[in-house]
Amino acid sequence: MIVLMNDKLIRREEAKVDIEDRGHQFGDGFYEVMKIYGGKIFTLKEHMDRLERSARELKISLPFSREEIEQKVKELVTENGAEEGAIYLQITRGGSIRQHHFPGAETVPQLTAYPFSCHLPEKEQQEGVETVLTEDIRWKRCDIKSLNLLGNVLAKQEAKEAGKFEAILHRDGIITEGSSTNFYGVKNGAVITHPVSPLILNGITRIKIAELCAANDIVFKEKALTVEELKDLDEAFISSTTSEIIPVIKTGEQVIGNGSPGPVTKTLLQLFKQITP
Ligand SMILES: Cc1ncc(COP(=O)(O)O)c(C=O)c1O
Repeated sequence: MIVLMNDKLIRREEAKVDIEDRGHQFGDGFYEVMKIYGGKIFTLKEHMDRLERSARELKISLPFSREEIEQKVKELVTENGAEEGAIYLQITRGGSIRQHHFPGAETVPQLTAYPFSCHLPEKEQQEGVETVLTEDIRWKRCDIKSLNLLGNVLAKQEAKEAGKFEAILHRDGIITEGSSTNFYGVKNGAVITHPVSPLILNGITRIKIAELCAANDIVFKEKALTVEELKDLDEAFISSTTSEIIPVIKTGEQVIGNGSPGPVTKTLLQLFKQITP
């Protein structure tokens, strides 16, 4: 496999990360996961917009221009002959003696990226999934796609141990999102999801779903759902770059709607498939 280390495309075996890299020690950095369809990166612009935003919020300067990063990532896809799959890209604050505060200007942010294979969860897209409901214990800047994912990791593990696909998170009874997905309810034909705020990641798939709703006369309502409201939903679904849209048929003990994927979710999945190459 060919990987990207800063601006160099090298063999994976040659790639070395400093043991004092702040990403390694503090999770001091941010990342993006981008889907490859037919050898092309989907929604590259939106991912780069979010990458720049994460950099700004964490006060880490991008080591290269946006155009240079885009170019290198495209070369990474071509060099690996990647037709389907995804790219993981991360930028850390760089390597420096371990101290909590930011290092000086001599520390250069480090960019790494590599492709990985991932298959669309087609069975789950068709049949829907069950999820656990668990407390959102994460920090209050979930809008930054930071490397710190312990709250997400613990929630996903809880789902795995329960034999469920995803963990839906709530803060004091208000549903925020999934451990690695955005969450939506559907009521009387309207799609309802948590507003963009520091408590959720503004998913690129979420952005596309909002656009699809607008273009197809589906009401897209940004409103925080409560755990209490789950029982009144007609449908629910989750979304992410690697899973697109997946119907949710159960959350915690609550069966959603009639317990099978609903018509609005199915329509959105079809519409989404039409915009992917
Ligand atoms: C916490 C969280 N929310 C939402 C998403 C969905 O974001 P996207 O659609 O950009 O993949 C992710 C993706 O990994 C995530 O980790």
